[in-house]
Amino acid sequence: MDANHDQNPFPNSWFRIGCTQELAPRQVIPLHYFGKELVLFRAEDGTAHVLDAHCPHLGAHLGYNGTIIKDTIRCPYHGWRWQGNGHCAEVPYINKTPQTKLRSYPVREVNGLIMLYYHQEGQMPTWEIPAIAEYTCKQWTPLQPIRTWKARTTLQNYLDNSVDVAHLSQLHQQTFRSAKTEQIEINGPIFSHTMSQHYNLSSLSVGGLIPEKGRVTTTYYGPGYDVSFYWTQGKIKLGLLQIFTGTPIDHNCLEIQIFLSVKKSLPGPLNTVLAALLKKDTLAAFEQDIPILEHKIYCNNPILYKEDGPIMQCRQWASQFYQ
Ligand code: FES
Ligand SMILES: [Fe+2]
Repeated sequence: MDANHDQNPFPNSWFRIGCTQELAPRQVIPLHYFGKELVLFRAEDGTAHVLDAHCPHLGAHLGYNGTIIKDTIRCPYHGWRWQGNGHCAEVPYINKTPQTKLRSYPVREVNGLIMLYYHQEGQMPTWEIPAIAEYTCKQWTPLQPIRTWKARTTLQNYLDNSVDVAHLSQLHQQTFRSAKTEQIEINGPIFSHTMSQHYNLSSLSVGGLIPEKGRVTTTYYGPGYDVSFYWTQGKIKLGLLQIFTGTPIDHNCLEIQIFLSVKKSLPGPLNTVLAALLKKDTLAAFEQDIPILEHKIYCNNPILYKEDGPIMQCRQWASQFYQ
């Protein structure tokens, strides 16, 4: 863990804690994030909720055999029922309800993801994760999860890696020939980084069809969720949408997920082939990052050149979420 963030190890921000299609009506799922036991459930009205998992009555975990009754979750042990806002709704064997409350977390479902707002002191969010128009657009293939990693690393290391320009053509040389920062924009909780790139794209170079130059803009909404749009230049203009999410499991572990969609720029089924090839490239590249992330240390004073990318700017921006 970074020594700078001893006081507040998990940033105050939005984090992916599930996927909409993985949470059926009335489903209850135990979660472990931010070093806490949590319970995620979908009430009968369709709303997703997250509460601290342990029932204040005698400590049972609501995520294991808790059941949904209307808009409440019923503890399996003595049947106390809890509302999505954490208030006790009913104690089945007495005529009063205690004033006690479970901690509840703000939850949104956006772009097929279930997002939770984590705040160290339980404050409400002042900003939201925006819906992506391409997510519902027929011109793009359905946004697919590529893989989930549980990596022994921190969000700080993960974010450094994400804006690290120089490693692209060194660690991921099979995909990137070169990369250069063109623009950075910072707007409150949003950090945006545009790069020009030259690709090798090993799996795509069949027939020399694929353009080798392109640009990518990655927009970070807090440190745990970012959206990238890649556009290639040339005869065929390929568009790729990637979402990366990093959710702290505890002080030492991060859950990372990648989602991908491609613009349907080719005839019919070829788009599915294109999505599969880009998925393979994305996966191969990120598999190279994992052992680096798991064994590296966090350098407070790294030796950086402009060509390394906006690592310090990004750290500076991200520090707002730890305050
Ligand atoms: S422990 Fe939950 S109702 Fe008793
Ligand atoms: Fe990488």
